[in-house]
Amino acid sequence: MGADLEDVLITPERLQQRIGELAAQIDADYADRELLLVGVLKGAVMVMADLARALRLPVHMDWMAVSSYGSGTKSSGVVRILKDLDCDITGRHVLVVEDIVDSGLTLSWLVRNLQSRGPASLRVCALLRKPSAARTDVDVAYVGFDIADAFVIGYGLDYAERYRNLPFIGTLAPHVYAADGGTAPESTAAASKAPDPAAAGSTGAGSTGAGNTS
Ligand code: PRP
Repeated sequence: MGADLEDVLITPERLQQRIGELAAQIDADYADRELLLVGVLKGAVMVMADLARALRLPVHMDWMAVSSYGSGTKSSGVVRILKDLDCDITGRHVLVVEDIVDSGLTLSWLVRNLQSRGPASLRVCALLRKPSAARTDVDVAYVGFDIADAFVIGYGLDYAERYRNLPFIGTLAPHVYAADGGTAPESTAAASKAPDPAAAGSTGAGSTGAGNTS
């Protein structure tokens, strides 16, 4: 992708290391229970696949696809189900797997929707979490990396459906979305240049700003 990439924020090695840590935590928390992983298409495909393989627990897997109405780069909180679960989650232990929590509006809606179906338990695992997510009521039990506000791509995350297959998380060069008439991230300058190992329970990075909610 050459000049479209501004920076590599989280390397493939660091992604796998952190996912291994999350898997160990989940294994311990759900010992002797049957867990259903619910991946949120499309961004969560990579983390879902790697997390599932890192878990020792036997898990079931299902998928939802949702679309948030909004300006194109920002969630509105009004969500439409494009693909619902194939299974009934009543009485089951459910772990929602997301690639990123940005405004938190999508997840907030999704959690309320799934909770209304009567699961035995419902928790969320998100690979990336942006600062804005803290302003919502979403409780994310398992966070891979708390990241700063920048436009992130790769490892499932897209810009206009591109870059999902990059094996790392990177930041998109501003000229790419500027050329497409996109909105600049709220604080591009805050885009971190490297993971921050001091971040609580996770590693810092940059995050989607103009949207990974495209
Ligand atoms: C992204 C991401 C989350 C949501 C987060 O999905 O996967 O579901 O946006 O944004 P929010 O916290 O501001 O609501 P997107 O709608 O871009 O679809 P995709 O996963 O298919 O790329």
